[in-house]
Amino acid sequence: MIKLLDDSDLDRSLRADVQAGLTAPVKTLPPKWFYDNRGSELFEEITRLPEYYPTRTERAVLAEAAPEIARITDAKTLVELGSGSSEKTRLLLDAMLARGTLGSFVPLDVSATFLSSSVETLIAEYPGLGVTGVVGDFAQHLGHLPDGDDRVVAFLGGTIGNLVPDERAAFLTSLRQALHPGEWLLLGADLVKDPAVLVPAYDDAAGVTAAFNRNVLHVVNRALGGDFDPSLFEHVALWDPQREWIEMRLRSTVAQRVRIAGLDLTVPFAEGEEMRTEISAKFRRAGLASELGAAGFELRHWWTDPRSWFGVTLAQAV
Ligand code: SAH
Ligand code: AVI
Repeated sequence: MIKLLDDSDLDRSLRADVQAGLTAPVKTLPPKWFYDNRGSELFEEITRLPEYYPTRTERAVLAEAAPEIARITDAKTLVELGSGSSEKTRLLLDAMLARGTLGSFVPLDVSATFLSSSVETLIAEYPGLGVTGVVGDFAQHLGHLPDGDDRVVAFLGGTIGNLVPDERAAFLTSLRQALHPGEWLLLGADLVKDPAVLVPAYDDAAGVTAAFNRNVLHVVNRALGGDFDPSLFEHVALWDPQREWIEMRLRSTVAQRVRIAGLDLTVPFAEGEEMRTEISAKFRRAGLASELGAAGFELRHWWTDPRSWFGVTLAQAV
């Protein structure tokens, strides 16, 4: 494993995010902090929920498209950003190995413990493949991707939608700078659809997404000596039709003051006050093509499912 982030870097950036987010007029916490080991496990549980269509839809699209992706790219190295379990990525690994071009796989994730167990499993499953896990932040470390030719960078699951538009533009621009002309971005993006489908995907009947959302409070408590009582925060998932994103929030059910000893900070919450914990933007093909174009990528191929719920884009650095 390569560590571009150690515990003290993570501690420093969590402190900065919590200090800034909880003292702002409208409170926010960035979604990156959901993913301690428990958060990563809760996310895996979400992917199996009946309401959460993105994972199974993207998997079906990839199952169909993987041989073509392997043929078009002739990838020697596959890099995966925000790789998590890399469960769907196995479809790409299998197709690229069958084509005979692939030599290495580089999953990068901020969630170190979960990444290292994913990497162990992959090494056992793919003995001929060089698998190197990278603990890193895709908003900071794209300049440190392993160099090479014929690289494909996969960013799956719709995680691009968890970036706000400015972060998204910065991410695409720095990814483009890290690639040579001709190399590829394989991007999974969840598409705009009926809110009657979208909202339950982020507010499931079993309450797993609610537990995932509240998990960020446990992370702050543990890392920064906070005394959040997660049971005093309600899970909220809203569709914003103007911005075309789902917004997850935590709503304080009572007026309360939360102490964060590690920051020497006391945070007042009014009864009913909401704190934003995640956006999950949904896309349209034309919007994606133009955002990619603005960053120096050309959308070359597009695959989707029969209902057009999830799009997989192959874009080339130009
Ligand atoms: N790609 C997988 C997992 C998606 S969950 C899938 O499609 O199912 C989002 C993943 O991104 C998590 O594993 C989380 O730890 C990781 N992640 C979130 N923010 C990140 C960041 N800033 N840098 C690197 N990884 C990040
Ligand atoms: C990782 N990411 C794409 C998920 C999403 O759908 O935005 C995270 C998630 N949040 C709630 N449920 C799943």
